[in-house]
Amino acid sequence: MASREANYDEDKVPQYELPDALICTDGTPVTDAQTWTEKRRPEILQLFEQQMYGKSPGRPENMTCELTSIARDALDGKAVRKEVSVYFAGDKTGPKMDILIYQPSENSGPFPTFVGLSFYGNHTVHSDPAIAISTQWMRNDEKHGIVDSRATDASRGSSASRWAIERILERGYALATIYCGDLDPDFDDGFQNGVHPLFYKEGQTRPADDEWGTIGAWAWGLSRALDYFETDPDLDAEKVAVMGHSRLGKTSLWAGAQDERFALAISNDSGCGGAALSRRRFGETVEIINNAFPHWFCGNFKQYNGKEEDLPLDQHMLIGLIAPRPVYVASAEEDRWADPRGEFLSAKHADPVYRLLGTDGMTVAQMPAVEQPITSRIGYHVRRGGHDVTAYDWERYMDFADKHLK
Ligand code: GCU
Repeated sequence: MASREANYDEDKVPQYELPDALICTDGTPVTDAQTWTEKRRPEILQLFEQQMYGKSPGRPENMTCELTSIARDALDGKAVRKEVSVYFAGDKTGPKMDILIYQPSENSGPFPTFVGLSFYGNHTVHSDPAIAISTQWMRNDEKHGIVDSRATDASRGSSASRWAIERILERGYALATIYCGDLDPDFDDGFQNGVHPLFYKEGQTRPADDEWGTIGAWAWGLSRALDYFETDPDLDAEKVAVMGHSRLGKTSLWAGAQDERFALAISNDSGCGGAALSRRRFGETVEIINNAFPHWFCGNFKQYNGKEEDLPLDQHMLIGLIAPRPVYVASAEEDRWADPRGEFLSAKHADPVYRLLGTDGMTVAQMPAVEQPITSRIGYHVRRGGHDVTAYDWERYMDFADKHLK
């Protein structure tokens, strides 16, 4: 079988040995929280930075935030709607991102908050006609009303089924969304657009092999949103859950792994390069993803095409970086491209790190049946259906957040 073809046969999953999250590179076993925090965790974080997602810069010194709209009677009085622009270079000509926020209209804040990137812009998450339409580049898509690489009025609300906004508000949470293309448009242009050029050193024209790719830039944007939340008295910046679907689920895990201010990280159908174990080579593989999306990961990650066994890491260690904070991994039964079993297994293999840090980790040994959610500190479900975010997924995320955040 050519390594380019996806395998869907469990019997053909290769034998593999996972790197041990609790053994340091120099062979020292990690048997206490201090060794984890001071030695092994930084070591693993550096491996993901150097070999996979690339290293990201910090918060730009001149970054400024501006509230561009506020409505106290949004969604028939059920919500307060805010729009905030974040200018990364301080001035309005440089790159910026626009955050859309809905929060419950009651005066009972600060609200625990879900934050997530969207595929087609803030105006697609709800049909609310007052949301500003994104003017950024977008991939043409009839269903989402994207014509000549720009959103049209027809794209309003076209992703609403993926954002259970009314339910989120009813359950006492705020929701913040950002268009991923504000950080970096999702195509391979050699990193000339998006936020990368803002950080080039004199003479640099693209990120070095160990510097951030597009997923890195997306995750960076989520941390910049958290910088803003810290200044907004309506939002509880200590109770922020970062959630993402698919490529943006790879992103939410990487954001949660790097930035310990995120109180909870949620991966919805993130698959290869997200929650799924790379070594299983089930469905999408490292080689397939690097060929199809060369801009997502850093240059160094390409050397593992077809050589997953050479990786000094696997995705259970990404989840381990989130410990002891709660993390939720969700799969969909028919989404075999994303390898539901591999997503479950990396959650399960992160368990020793969570236990070391004194939590209950993942309380089951076997993958649960369809729609039997696990809600220990590492949460998991596999729902019926295909690659998507559904009302079922959101109810489980909120049940989990009620249990672990509130
Ligand atoms: C493609 C890609 C996946 C990704 C998905 C998505 O299918 O191969 O890795 O998760 O797109 O983002 O929807």
